[in-house]
Amino acid sequence: MTRKIVFASLALLALAVTPACNKGGGAAAPVISPQAKQEAQEIFSSRCAVCHGAQGAGDGAASAGLTPKPRNFQDKSWQGTVKDDYLVNIIKNGGGAVGKSPAMPPNPDLAEKTEVVNALVAHLRGLAK
Ligand code: HEC
Repeated sequence: MTRKIVFASLALLALAVTPACNKGGGAAAPVISPQAKQEAQEIFSSRCAVCHGAQGAGDGAASAGLTPKPRNFQDKSWQGTVKDDYLVNIIKNGGGAVGKSPAMPPNPDLAEKTEVVNALVAHLRGLAK
């Protein structure tokens, strides 16, 4: 009798735990709401494209005067060399924070906007060709 109860409890426990495990499965992409996605696209067009180019090719109008110039985000092999954490860091804290050119400005207003920053990172990833 007691055994049956123990078995039943274990089965219930397994049921309760399984979906949580699936969700927490390692490096799953962060959930990004449509609003965050849209805000990120607006931010990229209004703030980033002037240097990085509308398609991230590093050819924005303001890039001409920059040394070093922003790289081409469409470059797949470069994309593979950088982690999302690094992209989050440089977007929030600027080039100076990661040993790159301080011409890459920090975005302190995004410091607490995790979802929008994740959406910006996803946007950068989506530029790869
Ligand atoms: C005033 C021009 C300017 C603006 C605006 C700007 N950037 Fe940059 N960004 C740069 C430059 C220049 C670099 C290259 C720094 C270097 O290589 O030392 C850079 C580097 C980067 C990198 C790192 C690339 C690498 O080579 O590791 C990322 C990611 C990035 N910018 C994202 C953004 C995003 C997202 C925005 C908008 C929120 C933005 N930048 C706005 C100039 C700019």
